[in-house]
Amino acid sequence: MAQKRQAWNSRIGLILAMAGGAVGLGNFLRFPIQAIQNGGGAFIIPYLVSFVLLGLPLTMIEWSTGKLGGLFGHHSPPMIMQKLGRRVHWRYIGSIGLFSSIIIASYYCFIESWIFSYMLHSLFGTFDGMTELQISDFFDRYLNLSISVSGIPCDTFLSFVFCLALNIYILSKGIAGGIERVAKICMPLLFIFGIFLVIKAFTLKAGEDGAIFDGTLGLNFLWTPQFDSLANPNVWLAAAGQVFFTLSLGMGAIQTYASYLKKEQDIALSSLTSAFTNEFTEVILGSSIIIPISIGYFGIDKVIELTQSGGFGLGFRTMPYLFEQWGTVFSTLAGVAFFGLLFFAGITSTLSIIQPTVAHLSKSFDWSQKKSSYITGSFVFFLALPCILFFDKGVFDEYDYWGGTMALFLFAMFEAIAFSWILGVDKGWKLITGYANITVPRFFKFVLKYITPTMLILIFISALVKPMNDDWSLISIHGWELDNNAIIAKLMHKGMDVNDSNIIYIDGARIYLLLLLITIWLTIYINIRVRKKRVQKHNESMMS
Ligand code: ALA
Repeated sequence: MAQKRQAWNSRIGLILAMAGGAVGLGNFLRFPIQAIQNGGGAFIIPYLVSFVLLGLPLTMIEWSTGKLGGLFGHHSPPMIMQKLGRRVHWRYIGSIGLFSSIIIASYYCFIESWIFSYMLHSLFGTFDGMTELQISDFFDRYLNLSISVSGIPCDTFLSFVFCLALNIYILSKGIAGGIERVAKICMPLLFIFGIFLVIKAFTLKAGEDGAIFDGTLGLNFLWTPQFDSLANPNVWLAAAGQVFFTLSLGMGAIQTYASYLKKEQDIALSSLTSAFTNEFTEVILGSSIIIPISIGYFGIDKVIELTQSGGFGLGFRTMPYLFEQWGTVFSTLAGVAFFGLLFFAGITSTLSIIQPTVAHLSKSFDWSQKKSSYITGSFVFFLALPCILFFDKGVFDEYDYWGGTMALFLFAMFEAIAFSWILGVDKGWKLITGYANITVPRFFKFVLKYITPTMLILIFISALVKPMNDDWSLISIHGWELDNNAIIAKLMHKGMDVNDSNIIYIDGARIYLLLLLITIWLTIYINIRVRKKRVQKHNESMMS
Protein backbone atom coordinates (compact mmCIF):
# COMPACT_ATOMS: atom_id res chain seq x y z
CA MET A 1 0.00 0.00 0.00
CA ALA A 2 1.43 3.42 -0.94
CA GLN A 3 2.30 5.57 2.09
CA LYS A 4 0.97 9.10 2.51
CA ARG A 5 3.74 11.69 1.97
CA GLN A 6 4.89 13.08 5.30
CA ALA A 7 5.83 16.75 5.76
CA TRP A 8 6.96 19.22 8.41
CA ASN A 9 4.17 21.11 10.14
CA SER A 10 5.89 24.47 10.48
CA ARG A 11 9.07 26.27 9.50
CA ILE A 12 10.14 26.71 13.10
CA GLY A 13 9.55 22.99 13.69
CA LEU A 14 11.67 22.16 10.65
CA ILE A 15 14.54 24.43 11.75
CA LEU A 16 14.43 23.13 15.33
CA ALA A 17 14.44 19.53 14.10
CA MET A 18 17.31 20.19 11.67
CA ALA A 19 19.28 22.14 14.27
CA GLY A 20 18.43 19.43 16.82
CA GLY A 21 19.84 16.84 14.44
CA ALA A 22 23.05 18.80 14.14
CA VAL A 23 23.40 19.89 17.77
CA GLY A 24 24.49 16.78 19.55
CA LEU A 25 27.20 15.09 21.51
CA GLY A 26 29.62 16.34 18.89
CA ASN A 27 29.03 19.90 20.11
CA PHE A 28 29.41 19.31 23.82
CA LEU A 29 31.72 16.30 24.14
CA ARG A 30 33.64 15.84 20.88
CA PHE A 31 34.37 19.49 20.04
CA PRO A 32 36.08 20.39 23.35
CA ILE A 33 38.20 17.25 23.19
CA GLN A 34 39.21 17.83 19.57
CA ALA A 35 40.03 21.45 20.36
CA ILE A 36 42.18 20.52 23.36
CA GLN A 37 43.94 17.63 21.58
CA ASN A 38 44.76 19.88 18.64
CA GLY A 39 46.24 22.75 20.59
CA GLY A 40 43.29 24.97 21.62
CA GLY A 41 43.65 28.19 19.59
CA ALA A 42 45.56 26.19 16.95
CA PHE A 43 42.38 24.33 16.11
CA ILE A 44 40.01 27.24 15.67
CA ILE A 45 41.30 28.69 12.39
CA PRO A 46 41.27 25.42 10.40
CA TYR A 47 37.90 24.70 11.99
CA LEU A 48 36.36 27.98 10.83
CA VAL A 49 37.90 27.71 7.36
CA SER A 50 36.56 24.15 7.02
CA PHE A 51 33.16 25.37 8.14
CA VAL A 52 33.03 27.94 5.31
CA LEU A 53 34.61 25.87 2.52
CA LEU A 54 33.19 22.45 3.36
CA GLY A 55 30.49 22.78 5.99
CA LEU A 56 28.27 25.47 4.49
CA PRO A 57 28.48 24.27 0.85
CA LEU A 58 27.73 20.67 1.84
CA THR A 59 24.88 21.78 4.05
CA MET A 60 23.36 23.55 1.05
CA ILE A 61 24.02 20.54 -1.20
CA GLU A 62 22.31 18.16 1.22
CA TRP A 63 19.31 20.41 1.84
CA SER A 64 18.73 21.08 -1.85
CA THR A 65 19.24 17.52 -3.06
CA GLY A 66 17.10 16.19 -0.23
CA LYS A 67 14.29 18.56 -1.21
CA LEU A 68 14.67 17.60 -4.86
CA GLY A 69 14.44 13.90 -4.00
CA GLY A 70 11.42 14.46 -1.77
CA LEU A 71 9.51 16.18 -4.55
CA PHE A 72 9.86 12.92 -6.51
CA GLY A 73 8.87 10.78 -3.53
CA HIS A 74 12.41 9.79 -2.53
CA HIS A 75 13.35 10.10 1.13
CA SER A 76 16.55 8.13 1.63
CA PRO A 77 20.14 8.67 0.45
CA PRO A 78 20.26 5.87 -2.17
CA MET A 79 17.22 7.12 -4.08
CA ILE A 80 18.20 10.77 -3.70
CA MET A 81 21.66 10.03 -5.05
CA GLN A 82 20.18 8.19 -8.02
CA LYS A 83 17.99 11.19 -8.76
CA LEU A 84 21.13 13.31 -8.75
CA GLY A 85 23.46 11.01 -10.66
CA ARG A 86 20.67 9.77 -12.99
CA ARG A 87 22.04 6.22 -13.16
CA VAL A 88 21.23 3.20 -11.08
CA HIS A 89 24.77 2.71 -9.80
CA TRP A 90 24.36 6.01 -7.93
CA ARG A 91 21.78 4.25 -5.80
CA TYR A 92 24.50 1.87 -4.62
CA ILE A 93 26.84 4.80 -4.00
CA GLY A 94 24.04 6.37 -1.96
CA SER A 95 24.13 3.30 0.28
CA ILE A 96 27.26 4.78 1.89
CA GLY A 97 25.02 7.43 3.46
CA LEU A 98 22.80 4.75 4.96
CA PHE A 99 25.81 2.71 6.03
CA SER A 100 27.34 5.63 7.94
CA SER A 101 24.06 6.73 9.51
CA ILE A 102 23.08 3.36 10.90
CA ILE A 103 26.55 2.64 12.28
CA ILE A 104 26.70 6.04 13.95
CA ALA A 105 23.17 5.49 15.26
CA SER A 106 24.26 2.29 16.99
CA TYR A 107 27.18 3.69 18.96
CA TYR A 108 25.62 7.11 19.38
CA CYS A 109 22.57 5.57 20.99
CA PHE A 110 24.94 3.69 23.28
CA ILE A 111 26.59 6.93 24.42
CA GLU A 112 23.16 8.46 24.83
CA SER A 113 22.37 5.66 27.23
CA TRP A 114 25.46 6.46 29.36
CA ILE A 115 24.14 9.99 29.55
CA PHE A 116 20.65 8.93 30.55
CA SER A 117 22.09 6.74 33.24
CA TYR A 118 24.44 9.48 34.50
CA MET A 119 21.51 11.90 34.63
CA LEU A 120 19.67 9.52 36.96
CA HIS A 121 22.79 8.86 39.01
CA SER A 122 23.28 12.62 39.42
CA LEU A 123 19.66 13.03 40.46
CA PHE A 124 19.80 10.23 43.02
CA GLY A 125 23.15 11.34 44.43
CA THR A 126 25.25 8.30 43.43
CA PHE A 127 28.33 10.49 43.02
CA ASP A 128 27.99 12.24 46.41
CA GLY A 129 31.26 12.06 48.31
CA MET A 130 33.12 10.07 45.64
CA THR A 131 36.74 10.94 44.94
CA GLU A 132 38.04 11.79 41.48
CA LEU A 133 39.48 8.30 41.17
CA GLN A 134 36.27 6.62 42.27
CA ILE A 135 34.26 8.55 39.68
CA SER A 136 36.69 7.62 36.93
CA ASP A 137 36.58 4.02 38.12
CA PHE A 138 32.76 4.15 38.11
CA PHE A 139 32.90 4.97 34.40
CA ASP A 140 35.18 1.98 33.71
CA ARG A 141 32.86 -0.32 35.63
CA TYR A 142 29.89 1.16 33.80
CA LEU A 143 31.46 0.28 30.46
CA ASN A 144 32.29 -3.20 31.73
CA LEU A 145 28.59 -3.73 32.37
CA SER A 146 29.24 -4.18 36.08
CA ILE A 147 27.22 -1.37 37.65
CA SER A 148 24.04 -2.45 39.31
CA VAL A 149 21.79 0.09 40.93
CA SER A 150 19.02 -0.60 43.40
CA GLY A 151 19.34 -4.27 42.70
CA ILE A 152 18.90 -3.84 38.94
CA PRO A 153 21.80 -5.59 37.27
CA CYS A 154 23.35 -4.44 34.07
CA ASP A 155 22.61 -0.75 34.31
CA THR A 156 24.47 -0.18 31.04
CA PHE A 157 22.43 -2.61 29.03
CA LEU A 158 19.04 -1.62 30.40
CA SER A 159 19.75 2.03 29.84
CA PHE A 160 20.69 1.30 26.22
CA VAL A 161 17.51 -0.68 25.60
CA PHE A 162 15.43 2.12 27.13
CA CYS A 163 17.07 4.83 25.00
CA LEU A 164 16.77 2.86 21.79
CA ALA A 165 13.12 2.03 22.54
CA LEU A 166 12.41 5.71 23.22
CA ASN A 167 13.98 6.74 19.91
CA ILE A 168 12.03 4.12 18.01
CA TYR A 169 8.78 5.07 19.72
CA ILE A 170 9.25 8.72 18.74
CA LEU A 171 10.18 7.79 15.17
CA SER A 172 7.14 5.55 14.89
CA LYS A 173 5.01 8.66 15.43
CA GLY A 174 6.35 10.15 12.21
CA ILE A 175 7.94 13.38 11.06
CA ALA A 176 5.47 15.95 12.39
CA GLY A 177 3.91 13.89 15.18
CA GLY A 178 7.18 12.51 16.56
CA ILE A 179 10.42 14.19 15.48
CA GLU A 180 9.11 17.76 15.14
CA ARG A 181 7.21 17.63 18.42
CA VAL A 182 10.21 16.34 20.37
CA ALA A 183 12.54 18.95 18.82
CA LYS A 184 10.17 21.72 19.94
CA ILE A 185 10.44 20.49 23.54
CA CYS A 186 14.10 19.43 23.70
CA MET A 187 15.79 22.36 21.98
CA PRO A 188 14.56 25.11 24.34
CA LEU A 189 15.36 22.93 27.38
CA LEU A 190 18.84 22.30 26.01
CA PHE A 191 19.49 26.04 25.75
CA ILE A 192 18.18 26.73 29.27
CA PHE A 193 20.43 24.03 30.79
CA GLY A 194 23.35 25.18 28.64
CA ILE A 195 23.07 28.81 29.68
CA PHE A 196 22.91 27.83 33.37
CA LEU A 197 26.16 25.87 33.02
CA VAL A 198 27.90 28.56 30.97
CA ILE A 199 27.13 31.13 33.67
CA LYS A 200 28.62 28.81 36.30
CA ALA A 201 31.70 28.23 34.13
CA PHE A 202 32.25 31.93 33.49
CA THR A 203 31.89 32.85 37.14
CA LEU A 204 34.24 30.11 38.34
CA LYS A 205 36.84 31.86 40.49
CA ALA A 206 40.23 30.59 41.57
CA GLY A 207 40.14 29.76 45.29
CA GLU A 208 36.36 29.28 45.40
CA ASP A 209 34.73 25.83 45.61
CA GLY A 210 38.16 24.23 45.25
CA ALA A 211 38.89 25.75 41.81
CA ILE A 212 42.58 26.49 41.19
CA PHE A 213 42.11 28.80 38.20
CA ASP A 214 39.41 31.15 36.94
CA GLY A 215 37.07 29.69 34.29
CA THR A 216 38.48 32.22 31.84
CA LEU A 217 41.85 30.41 31.70
CA GLY A 218 40.29 27.65 29.60
CA LEU A 219 38.56 30.17 27.35
CA ASN A 220 41.84 31.99 26.69
CA PHE A 221 43.49 28.67 25.86
CA LEU A 222 40.85 28.01 23.23
CA TRP A 223 40.48 31.50 21.83
CA THR A 224 44.09 32.62 21.45
CA PRO A 225 44.76 31.87 17.76
CA GLN A 226 48.03 30.18 16.79
CA PHE A 227 48.71 30.70 13.12
CA ASP A 228 51.46 28.07 12.86
CA SER A 229 48.75 25.39 13.00
CA LEU A 230 47.79 26.27 9.44
CA ALA A 231 50.76 24.25 8.23
CA ASN A 232 49.79 21.10 10.12
CA PRO A 233 47.70 18.66 7.98
CA ASN A 234 46.67 16.66 11.04
CA VAL A 235 44.95 19.66 12.58
CA TRP A 236 43.19 20.32 9.27
CA LEU A 237 41.92 16.75 9.09
CA ALA A 238 40.71 16.86 12.69
CA ALA A 239 39.00 20.21 12.09
CA ALA A 240 37.30 19.04 8.88
CA GLY A 241 36.23 15.81 10.63
CA GLN A 242 34.68 17.82 13.44
CA VAL A 243 32.81 20.07 10.99
CA PHE A 244 31.40 16.97 9.30
CA PHE A 245 30.37 15.31 12.51
CA THR A 246 28.85 18.37 14.09
CA LEU A 247 26.84 19.43 11.04
CA SER A 248 25.75 15.80 10.47
CA LEU A 249 27.20 15.86 6.96
CA GLY A 250 27.73 12.72 4.90
CA MET A 251 25.28 10.67 6.96
CA GLY A 252 22.13 11.15 4.95
CA ALA A 253 20.39 12.79 7.91
CA ILE A 254 20.01 16.26 6.40
CA GLN A 255 18.99 14.89 3.01
CA THR A 256 16.29 12.76 4.56
CA TYR A 257 14.88 15.56 6.71
CA ALA A 258 15.00 17.98 3.75
CA SER A 259 13.08 15.50 1.64
CA TYR A 260 9.98 16.31 3.71
CA LEU A 261 10.06 19.97 2.62
CA LYS A 262 7.29 21.31 0.44
CA LYS A 263 8.03 22.67 -3.04
CA GLU A 264 7.63 26.33 -2.16
CA GLN A 265 9.66 26.11 1.06
CA ASP A 266 12.92 28.07 1.18
CA ILE A 267 16.26 26.31 1.50
CA ALA A 268 18.82 29.08 1.67
CA LEU A 269 17.64 30.80 4.84
CA SER A 270 16.55 27.64 6.64
CA SER A 271 19.75 25.72 5.95
CA LEU A 272 21.97 28.61 6.98
CA THR A 273 19.87 29.24 10.11
CA SER A 274 20.19 25.66 11.25
CA ALA A 275 23.94 25.51 10.43
CA PHE A 276 24.59 28.75 12.33
CA THR A 277 22.44 27.62 15.28
CA ASN A 278 24.62 24.55 15.44
CA GLU A 279 27.81 26.62 15.28
CA PHE A 280 26.57 29.02 17.96
CA THR A 281 25.81 26.05 20.19
CA GLU A 282 29.16 24.42 19.49
CA VAL A 283 31.49 27.38 19.55
CA ILE A 284 29.74 29.42 22.25
CA LEU A 285 28.00 26.89 24.50
CA GLY A 286 30.03 23.76 23.66
CA SER A 287 33.35 25.44 24.30
CA SER A 288 32.18 27.23 27.45
CA ILE A 289 31.30 24.29 29.66
CA ILE A 290 33.75 21.38 29.77
CA ILE A 291 36.87 23.37 28.86
CA PRO A 292 36.64 26.24 31.40
CA ILE A 293 35.31 24.05 34.21
CA SER A 294 37.85 21.24 33.83
CA ILE A 295 40.79 23.60 33.22
CA GLY A 296 39.62 25.70 36.19
CA TYR A 297 40.07 22.68 38.45
CA PHE A 298 42.88 20.73 36.84
CA GLY A 299 44.90 23.24 34.81
CA ILE A 300 45.74 23.01 31.10
CA ASP A 301 48.42 20.31 31.25
CA LYS A 302 46.35 17.81 33.21
CA VAL A 303 43.32 18.34 30.96
CA ILE A 304 45.46 17.78 27.86
CA GLU A 305 46.72 14.58 29.48
CA LEU A 306 43.16 13.47 30.32
CA THR A 307 42.04 13.92 26.71
CA GLN A 308 44.89 11.81 25.34
CA SER A 309 42.89 8.68 26.11
CA GLY A 310 40.53 10.21 23.52
CA GLY A 311 36.91 9.45 22.90
CA PHE A 312 33.86 10.95 24.51
CA GLY A 313 34.88 9.94 28.05
CA LEU A 314 36.20 13.20 29.53
CA GLY A 315 32.76 14.50 30.54
CA PHE A 316 31.89 11.24 32.30
CA ARG A 317 35.21 10.80 34.06
CA THR A 318 35.55 14.31 35.39
CA MET A 319 32.39 16.42 35.38
CA PRO A 320 30.48 14.63 38.18
CA TYR A 321 33.53 15.06 40.44
CA LEU A 322 33.91 18.75 39.58
CA PHE A 323 30.20 19.39 40.18
CA GLU A 324 30.60 17.75 43.60
CA GLN A 325 32.76 20.72 44.61
CA TRP A 326 29.74 23.02 44.32
CA GLY A 327 27.84 21.58 47.31
CA THR A 328 24.97 19.08 47.39
CA VAL A 329 22.20 21.21 45.87
CA PHE A 330 24.28 22.78 43.11
CA SER A 331 26.05 19.54 42.28
CA THR A 332 22.69 17.81 41.75
CA LEU A 333 21.40 20.71 39.69
CA ALA A 334 24.58 20.92 37.63
CA GLY A 335 24.73 17.14 37.11
CA VAL A 336 21.11 17.00 35.95
CA ALA A 337 21.59 20.11 33.78
CA PHE A 338 24.79 18.79 32.18
CA PHE A 339 23.61 15.27 31.49
CA GLY A 340 20.09 16.51 30.73
CA LEU A 341 21.51 18.89 28.14
CA LEU A 342 23.54 16.06 26.62
CA PHE A 343 20.51 13.80 26.62
CA PHE A 344 18.30 16.31 24.80
CA ALA A 345 21.11 17.07 22.36
CA GLY A 346 21.68 13.35 21.85
CA ILE A 347 18.11 12.27 21.29
CA THR A 348 17.31 14.92 18.68
CA SER A 349 20.44 13.76 16.84
CA THR A 350 19.77 10.03 16.99
CA LEU A 351 16.29 10.62 15.59
CA SER A 352 17.81 12.31 12.56
CA ILE A 353 20.43 9.60 12.14
CA ILE A 354 17.99 6.69 12.35
CA GLN A 355 15.28 8.21 10.11
CA PRO A 356 17.22 7.66 6.81
CA THR A 357 17.06 3.89 7.35
CA VAL A 358 13.41 4.07 8.41
CA ALA A 359 12.63 6.02 5.23
CA HIS A 360 14.67 3.59 3.11
CA LEU A 361 12.82 0.53 4.41
CA SER A 362 9.46 2.23 4.27
CA LYS A 363 9.94 3.22 0.63
CA SER A 364 11.65 0.02 -0.49
CA PHE A 365 9.07 -2.36 0.93
CA ASP A 366 5.99 -0.12 1.19
CA TRP A 367 6.02 -0.51 4.96
CA SER A 368 4.42 2.02 7.28
CA GLN A 369 6.57 4.45 9.27
CA LYS A 370 5.71 2.43 12.38
CA LYS A 371 6.73 -0.95 10.98
CA SER A 372 9.90 0.46 9.41
CA SER A 373 10.81 2.11 12.72
CA TYR A 374 10.49 -1.15 14.65
CA ILE A 375 12.52 -3.08 12.10
CA THR A 376 15.21 -0.39 11.98
CA GLY A 377 15.26 -0.47 15.79
CA SER A 378 16.06 -4.20 15.69
CA PHE A 379 18.88 -3.53 13.20
CA VAL A 380 20.35 -0.85 15.44
CA PHE A 381 20.06 -3.16 18.44
CA PHE A 382 21.99 -6.01 16.81
CA LEU A 383 24.53 -3.62 15.37
CA ALA A 384 25.15 -2.04 18.74
CA LEU A 385 25.54 -5.34 20.61
CA PRO A 386 29.22 -5.98 19.75
CA CYS A 387 29.94 -2.36 20.57
CA ILE A 388 28.41 -2.76 24.03
CA LEU A 389 29.77 -6.22 24.80
CA PHE A 390 33.29 -5.69 23.44
CA PHE A 391 33.68 -1.98 24.00
CA ASP A 392 37.19 -2.29 25.44
CA LYS A 393 38.36 -4.57 22.61
CA GLY A 394 38.42 -1.79 20.07
CA VAL A 395 35.01 -2.46 18.48
CA PHE A 396 33.65 0.99 19.32
CA ASP A 397 36.68 2.64 17.72
CA GLU A 398 36.27 0.51 14.58
CA TYR A 399 32.66 1.65 14.23
CA ASP A 400 33.70 5.26 14.73
CA TYR A 401 36.58 5.02 12.25
CA TRP A 402 34.71 3.35 9.38
CA GLY A 403 31.16 4.58 9.95
CA GLY A 404 31.69 7.84 11.80
CA THR A 405 34.70 9.19 9.93
CA MET A 406 35.71 7.55 6.64
CA ALA A 407 32.21 6.85 5.32
CA LEU A 408 31.24 10.48 5.98
CA PHE A 409 34.10 11.84 3.88
CA LEU A 410 33.50 9.31 1.14
CA PHE A 411 29.77 9.95 0.89
CA ALA A 412 30.24 13.73 1.01
CA MET A 413 32.83 13.48 -1.76
CA PHE A 414 30.35 11.64 -4.00
CA GLU A 415 27.58 14.09 -3.11
CA ALA A 416 29.72 17.07 -4.08
CA ILE A 417 30.83 15.43 -7.34
CA ALA A 418 27.26 14.44 -8.27
CA PHE A 419 25.90 17.88 -7.42
CA SER A 420 28.53 20.07 -9.01
CA TRP A 421 29.84 18.00 -11.89
CA ILE A 422 27.07 15.59 -12.88
CA LEU A 423 23.87 17.50 -12.20
CA GLY A 424 25.88 20.66 -12.89
CA VAL A 425 26.47 23.59 -10.61
CA ASP A 426 24.09 25.87 -12.58
CA LYS A 427 21.14 23.58 -11.99
CA GLY A 428 22.31 22.97 -8.42
CA TRP A 429 22.53 26.70 -7.76
CA LYS A 430 18.92 27.07 -8.92
CA LEU A 431 17.87 24.37 -6.46
CA ILE A 432 19.55 26.28 -3.64
CA THR A 433 18.33 29.73 -4.58
CA GLY A 434 14.84 28.90 -5.89
CA TYR A 435 12.17 30.08 -3.39
CA ALA A 436 15.02 31.52 -1.28
CA ASN A 437 14.21 34.10 1.37
CA ILE A 438 17.75 35.52 1.32
CA THR A 439 20.42 36.15 -1.29
CA VAL A 440 23.18 33.56 -1.12
CA PRO A 441 26.58 35.16 -1.94
CA ARG A 442 27.68 34.07 -5.45
CA PHE A 443 31.08 33.28 -4.01
CA PHE A 444 29.53 29.98 -2.89
CA LYS A 445 28.78 29.00 -6.47
CA PHE A 446 32.49 29.05 -7.20
CA VAL A 447 33.24 27.18 -3.96
CA LEU A 448 30.62 24.55 -4.80
CA LYS A 449 32.03 24.00 -8.27
CA TYR A 450 35.74 23.87 -7.57
CA ILE A 451 36.79 24.12 -3.95
CA THR A 452 34.50 21.71 -2.09
CA PRO A 453 34.77 18.71 -4.45
CA THR A 454 38.53 19.18 -4.85
CA MET A 455 39.10 19.48 -1.12
CA LEU A 456 37.04 16.35 -0.50
CA ILE A 457 38.95 14.36 -3.11
CA LEU A 458 42.23 15.47 -1.56
CA ILE A 459 41.03 14.66 1.95
CA PHE A 460 39.99 11.20 0.82
CA ILE A 461 43.29 10.48 -0.94
CA SER A 462 45.23 11.72 2.05
CA ALA A 463 43.17 9.51 4.37
CA LEU A 464 43.83 6.54 2.08
CA VAL A 465 47.61 6.78 1.93
CA LYS A 466 48.52 9.23 4.70
CA PRO A 467 52.29 8.93 5.18
CA MET A 468 54.05 8.55 8.50
CA ASN A 469 54.88 11.91 10.13
CA ASP A 470 52.99 13.63 7.32
CA ASP A 471 56.04 13.35 5.10
CA TRP A 472 54.48 13.83 1.68
CA SER A 473 57.71 13.89 -0.31
CA LEU A 474 57.41 10.97 -2.71
CA ILE A 475 61.10 10.95 -3.34
CA SER A 476 61.96 10.45 0.31
CA ILE A 477 64.84 7.99 0.52
CA HIS A 478 62.93 6.06 3.17
CA GLY A 479 60.09 5.36 0.74
CA TRP A 480 56.45 5.89 1.53
CA GLU A 481 55.76 4.61 4.99
CA LEU A 482 52.07 4.70 5.81
CA ASP A 483 50.74 6.30 8.97
CA ASN A 484 48.99 3.79 11.26
CA ASN A 485 45.74 5.67 10.72
CA ALA A 486 45.83 5.64 6.90
CA ILE A 487 42.95 3.54 5.53
CA ILE A 488 45.28 1.06 3.85
CA ALA A 489 47.42 0.75 6.99
CA LYS A 490 44.34 0.24 9.14
CA LEU A 491 43.18 -2.59 6.90
CA MET A 492 46.57 -4.26 7.35
CA HIS A 493 46.55 -3.75 11.16
CA LYS A 494 49.69 -1.69 10.84
CA GLY A 495 51.11 -0.71 14.22
CA MET A 496 49.39 -3.61 16.02
CA ASP A 497 51.19 -6.55 17.55
CA VAL A 498 50.25 -9.72 15.59
CA ASN A 499 49.58 -11.45 18.90
CA ASP A 500 47.28 -8.68 20.09
CA SER A 501 44.12 -10.45 21.27
CA ASN A 502 41.99 -7.49 20.09
CA ILE A 503 42.69 -8.25 16.42
CA ILE A 504 40.06 -10.97 16.35
CA TYR A 505 37.42 -8.56 17.70
CA ILE A 506 38.47 -5.87 15.27
CA ASP A 507 38.27 -8.25 12.33
CA GLY A 508 34.94 -9.53 13.61
CA ALA A 509 33.63 -5.95 13.74
CA ARG A 510 34.82 -5.33 10.18
CA ILE A 511 33.11 -8.47 8.88
CA TYR A 512 29.94 -7.43 10.69
CA LEU A 513 30.08 -3.99 9.08
CA LEU A 514 30.72 -5.54 5.67
CA LEU A 515 27.66 -7.75 6.13
CA LEU A 516 25.68 -4.63 6.95
CA LEU A 517 26.78 -3.02 3.69
CA ILE A 518 25.86 -6.15 1.74
CA THR A 519 22.44 -6.20 3.43
CA ILE A 520 21.83 -2.60 2.37
CA TRP A 521 22.85 -3.45 -1.21
CA LEU A 522 20.49 -6.40 -1.10
CA THR A 523 17.55 -4.20 -0.10
CA ILE A 524 18.40 -1.88 -2.99
CA TYR A 525 18.68 -4.78 -5.42
CA ILE A 526 15.35 -6.29 -4.29
CA ASN A 527 13.68 -2.92 -4.61
CA ILE A 528 14.97 -2.46 -8.16
CA ARG A 529 13.76 -5.95 -9.16
CA VAL A 530 10.34 -5.55 -7.57
CA ARG A 531 9.77 -2.19 -9.24
CA LYS A 532 10.91 -3.52 -12.63
CA LYS A 533 8.46 -6.42 -12.33
CA ARG A 534 5.68 -4.02 -11.36
CA VAL A 535 6.34 -1.84 -14.40
CA GLN A 536 6.44 -4.94 -16.61
CA LYS A 537 3.13 -6.17 -15.23
CA HIS A 538 1.59 -2.76 -15.66
CA ASN A 539 2.76 -2.57 -19.29
CA GLU A 540 1.46 -6.07 -19.99
CA SER A 541 -1.95 -5.25 -18.54
CA MET A 542 -2.08 -2.09 -20.67
CA MET A 543 -1.30 -4.10 -23.81
CA SER A 544 -3.88 -6.79 -23.18
N1 ALA B 1 25.70 16.29 14.50
C1 ALA B 1 25.57 15.37 15.56
C2 ALA B 1 26.51 15.71 16.67
O1 ALA B 1 27.16 16.71 16.63
C3 ALA B 1 25.79 13.99 15.06
O2 ALA B 1 26.58 15.02 17.62
